[in-house]
Amino acid sequence: MNIKEKLAIKAKDVEKALHDYLVVREPTKLYEAMAHIPLAGGKRLRPIMAQLTCEMVGGDGLKSIPFAASLEVIHNFTLVHDDVMDDDDLRHGVAACHTVYGLPTAILAGDSLFAYAFEMIVESDVSDKVKAELVRHTAYTVRRIAEGQQMDMDFENQTNVNYESYIKMIKYKTAVLLGSSMQMGAIINNVNEIDSKFLYKCGINLGLAFQIQDDYLDLFGDQEVIGKKVGGDVIENKKTILYHMCFAKSSNDQKSLLNEIYKSDDSNKVEKAKKLFVETKADQAALNLVKKYSDLAIKSINDLDVNQSKKQELIDLSQLLLTRKF
Ligand code: IPE
Ligand code: IPE
Ligand code: MG
Ligand code: MG
Ligand code: MG
Repeated sequence: MNIKEKLAIKAKDVEKALHDYLVVREPTKLYEAMAHIPLAGGKRLRPIMAQLTCEMVGGDGLKSIPFAASLEVIHNFTLVHDDVMDDDDLRHGVAACHTVYGLPTAILAGDSLFAYAFEMIVESDVSDKVKAELVRHTAYTVRRIAEGQQMDMDFENQTNVNYESYIKMIKYKTAVLLGSSMQMGAIINNVNEIDSKFLYKCGINLGLAFQIQDDYLDLFGDQEVIGKKVGGDVIENKKTILYHMCFAKSSNDQKSLLNEIYKSDDSNKVEKAKKLFVETKADQAALNLVKKYSDLAIKSINDLDVNQSKKQELIDLSQLLLTRKF
């Protein structure tokens, strides 16, 4: 079985758990809104990473479900609220939750998914001690995500966002959940704190690569394939990796042009930004950074003192992510 087939089986296991949990009950509008985005699609990356890590440290990947599925529920809760914050109306190839069900129900659907994740953790087949650890890590992670999301929105109205602040922002809004997915996948198997922290750092590097690539795909991806609106980041004045790389590699005139484009509400805003990002090679610089952080993650996985075939699956997954189109 090749790695893509293995990952598809892991995704299927998670999808089964999601279907079991996200059944529609009264009041139906709330439960339909909760199921809308998680059941429409998604790569199921976080639960797959948790399962692979659990297996890598000698555990039973199946035992990590429904905990692994809870990560996907947390992720989807953040997506539902993120689309409200980013004013995006397309997600997983379907209309965003608030577009279909309205803002009040989308807020409640997100809140209920967040709460549901904790119920799923508590129902996992692990000791009470491990459950308490999973609850603690999950709660901490969600608070960090909120910090990153707040920074992301604050930056929309600032012109002096430095690169270090950008990295901190994407670490919080995205990478901590990937880091926690690996760390908690190990905690399920009672891995000691030192090793689980090492795995957390490895997931952070993978998460930084992942968000930088997400920024790239927001402009250079294909809307049909990514299942979300292309160009939304430029419209919302997001200080993405493309903005930072363009700023770092451009002349004073190009810097002024970039700020002008970002300030305007011109209907060609997205196309103008794209042209400037290509001219300044910000697109290539972004992809180089994806490779840099991905290589750091792969190096740490390689350094682990565990069975080669098991770590190979995580390495293969990391390499597959490098060429992802969605
Ligand atoms: C999208 O994440 C949000 C980010 C953190 C970049 P994914 O790319 O993993 O979302 P899915 O696969 O569509 O659910
Ligand atoms: C989202 O970052 C991070 C979270 C959902 C926490 P983005 O706003 O870039 O994600 P997409 O591009 O909408 O998926
Ligand atoms: Mg968004
Ligand atoms: Mg966002
Ligand atoms: Mg994005």
